[in-house]
Amino acid sequence: MNYYYITGTSRGIGKAFADHLLKNPANYVIGLSRQKTIEHSNYTHVFVDLTDAAAISSVKFDLHANAQKIYLINNAGALGFIKPVGKLDADTIIKNYTLNLIAPSVLTNAFIACYETTDCEKVILNISSGAGKSPIDGWAVYCSSKAGLDMFSRVVDAEQKIRSENPLESIHRGFRIFSIAPGIVNTEMQVGIRSAERKDFSRVEDFISYQVNNELSEPAVVSEKYIKLMENLGSIKDVLSSIKDYD
Ligand SMILES: NC(=O)c1ccc[n+]([C@@H]2O[C@H](COP(=O)([O-])OP(=O)(O)OC[C@H]3O[C@@H](n4cnc5c(N)ncnc54)[C@H](OP(=O)(O)O)[C@@H]3O)[C@@H](O)[C@H]2O)c1
Repeated sequence: MNYYYITGTSRGIGKAFADHLLKNPANYVIGLSRQKTIEHSNYTHVFVDLTDAAAISSVKFDLHANAQKIYLINNAGALGFIKPVGKLDADTIIKNYTLNLIAPSVLTNAFIACYETTDCEKVILNISSGAGKSPIDGWAVYCSSKAGLDMFSRVVDAEQKIRSENPLESIHRGFRIFSIAPGIVNTEMQVGIRSAERKDFSRVEDFISYQVNNELSEPAVVSEKYIKLMENLGSIKDVLSSIKDYD
């Protein structure tokens, strides 16, 4: 069996990812979010609020004796309130960093600890964003948490390469990690972006025009592209990339 732990499976990209994977009876999906919207015999839901540090720390990974592949897909994420720094509230800042950066870091650490000696294909896929590469006003916490997620992924990748080259680490069975941005996708996140106020976000009209001009990708299309990449890991260009790099 192939096991996929996916955060944020209740809607958007994460749900499309899970729906697509569940078409193959060799796949089992463990979804983590606050709401459950998937019913399937190969699906288990873990109700968790990934802004709650204690709840994140208590997430458990099972040892899957029959696993051929085990994946962690850190997909859950949110923009939070779109406002310039100075107009944010402390609680939103803390919750947003927790969801977008602390949760994937803690889950990745637990995932690697759990499957260190498991001998199968082990992959961590972080759903990153172009916003982690260039500043967008009103999105300070989102941009910096996604930049942090990219750097976290690069460090884990470097660690895995160093360990795999060390003859003293004979029991080490390596993990692959990728941080791949999805482009602009037609989900609730984009609805929130389009409803921001012009005074808080200078580019709101750009995002309205992406929808008017049909420039948004559908979650099902994007998740299918991710799955194709996951089936051909050798085609992935680097730790950091965008789904658009493979069109
Ligand atoms: N859409 C885009 O254009 C775009 C562009 C670049 C990057 N991304 C990234 O793609 C990923 C998915 O985004 P999306 O557009 O699919 O967003 P979405 O439609 O808003 O879905 C977000 C998912 O994350 C979960 N989530 C949010 N807050 C959570 C919390 N506190 N605890 C647990 N789960 C939580 C939600 O589940 P619950 O509400 O049920 O908890 C939902 O399943 C995010 O990391 C986002 O940053 C999206």
